[in-house]
Amino acid sequence: MAERLEGTIERINGSLIIGKFKDEPKMGDLIEVGNLKLMGEIVRLSQETAFIQCYESTAGLKPGEPVIDIGTPLVAELGPGLMGQIIDGVARSETELWALTGPFISRGANIAPLNREKIWKFEATVKKGDKVSAGDIIGTVQETDTFVHKIMIPPNQEGTIKSIKTGEYTVVDTLGVLETTEGDVDLKMMHVWPVRVGRPIKERLALSQPLITGQRVIDTFFPCAKGGASAIPGGFGTGKTVTLQQIAKWSDADIIVYIGCGERGNEMADVVEQFPEIEDPKTGKKLIERTIIVANVSNMAVSAREASIYMGITIGEYFRDQGFDVSLMADSTSRWAEALRDISGRLEEIPAEAGFPAYLADRIANIYERAGRVQVPATEDRFGSLTILGAVSPPGGDYSEPVTTTTLRFIGTFWALDSQLAYRRHFPAINWLRSFSRYLEVAARWWGEQDSSWEATRALALRILEEAAEIEETARIIGEKALPDDQRLVLLVAEMLREGFLVQSAFHDVDRYCAPEKQVKLLKIFIDFYNTVRPLIEQGIPIDQVRELDVIGEIMRLKEREGTEPIDMASAQMMNEIDALAKHYEGVDA
Ligand SMILES: Nc1ncnc2c1ncn2[C@@H]1O[C@H](COP(=O)(O)OP(=O)(O)OP(=O)(O)O)[C@@H](O)[C@H]1O
Ligand SMILES: [Mg+2]
Repeated sequence: MAERLEGTIERINGSLIIGKFKDEPKMGDLIEVGNLKLMGEIVRLSQETAFIQCYESTAGLKPGEPVIDIGTPLVAELGPGLMGQIIDGVARSETELWALTGPFISRGANIAPLNREKIWKFEATVKKGDKVSAGDIIGTVQETDTFVHKIMIPPNQEGTIKSIKTGEYTVVDTLGVLETTEGDVDLKMMHVWPVRVGRPIKERLALSQPLITGQRVIDTFFPCAKGGASAIPGGFGTGKTVTLQQIAKWSDADIIVYIGCGERGNEMADVVEQFPEIEDPKTGKKLIERTIIVANVSNMAVSAREASIYMGITIGEYFRDQGFDVSLMADSTSRWAEALRDISGRLEEIPAEAGFPAYLADRIANIYERAGRVQVPATEDRFGSLTILGAVSPPGGDYSEPVTTTTLRFIGTFWALDSQLAYRRHFPAINWLRSFSRYLEVAARWWGEQDSSWEATRALALRILEEAAEIEETARIIGEKALPDDQRLVLLVAEMLREGFLVQSAFHDVDRYCAPEKQVKLLKIFIDFYNTVRPLIEQGIPIDQVRELDVIGEIMRLKEREGTEPIDMASAQMMNEIDALAKHYEGVDA
């Protein structure tokens, strides 16, 4: 047990407590504040005087009440029982608190995230005499119907198994003993790790696979990689939450960590109530069986939000270390940054841009740098990835504000949501001219194996969309009809791509998920259409005749048809109709 250091409250400034200790406490340590034992954390230190950021409302707290440094920083509890849990940023079980007290959790209430009473069936996979080191798997627990939890030797430990037994244990029971150079260590299913420190890795690896989300504009145009980092900025109501939830639901990640840094308690209540209902298309069960939610449901101080992101990332790293592909969504990082600004303001630090502290960039970098594909420290070769997807909500949708611009520097994919598109109900409202992906090479290698023409097809599609944007400028002045036919063809195909490919409803039974093979074929038919019609236009066949082709309507509806067979049929129909049109004009010429 860590040593407890006592002190008293000197001053209270909102959520910031200034406490004087008898001895020097430690930066980052957790503090029990006041008679109510509220939770807080030392955010600045000046010898015996500590500035304590309190996670809960400090109303009614008085100078002279005790503050106790409990001797450890904020840690995540890691072990069986996390799956399906909703915990808050300061490691309390919100699921249990919620059941106990409802949405407005009483101050000082504290329930550990991992249930101490629950019995798990532990299956040992090592035996007495085995040499093991950090990250090695010593056994497994069937945690949910669909998830087998791997119990590992905690970071920074190694030795020889002195004893271990398959059996039924709680997370804190001793199930074996590890003999180390520093003496015997009890082996348990649970261990803890400080949330602000990345878990050790053996090696960082190059990203090698795209994260397939089933969302066309993402997978085909602006792909993310497993282990990559993505930002999804967007103004109010542009689709950040729906997009992140679509990825949670449909992406080919094994484990989902969903961090809700919500504005209001009731917003989080929605997450708590709705998330458990979401079906898991992969398993036919509930998505929550392979999801961990970090959310501050209660009426906690903003500062608790600041911690929640690190809590989520640490949990994500823990599952990564078990060898899984983990996707982490943070909705929204702007709320997190505002909490940081709030804390900094109370500390009377010199503000930089828009009131954010000068270290905003460092903190944002710290977050996204914890994404990656790694070889985990273990005797066997084991690989895992943590992908971090962060929503950003720039005030007024203005992308030049500091959180958005800073985030841009540290991410690989940028999905720029656009209020204009959202207003026109073009969803996902990802602007194809302002978004980008630095993982194109990784994605191209993977897609190239499905279809060698993928890269060229994608590039041409994007070029048509870009060209159309320029042509539209002119069209606005002189009118569409006054444009030359080859430009009108570009506009036609761009419109087809927009409606028939980019727009994808999260709520349509078929269209909500588009399998990779369907994405490839679907994109191709638009490009085939363009490539086949273009020579005809050059030969003088009027675009208005092309617009009349029946197959255009069919092509635009293909996304809503099951499978790829309708695409093949439409392809044949398209060739017939275009042939017929060409023949008709040959006849006219002759
Ligand atoms: N992919 C989609 N398919 C269909 N509708 C969508 C899609 N994305 C967003 N929408 C529509 O936009 C609405 C707002 O989306 P969402 O709540 O995700 O926005 P947000 O950016 O998270 O908003 P806030 O700023 O309030 O957090 C949704 O309720 C839905 O009607
Ligand atoms: Mg939202």
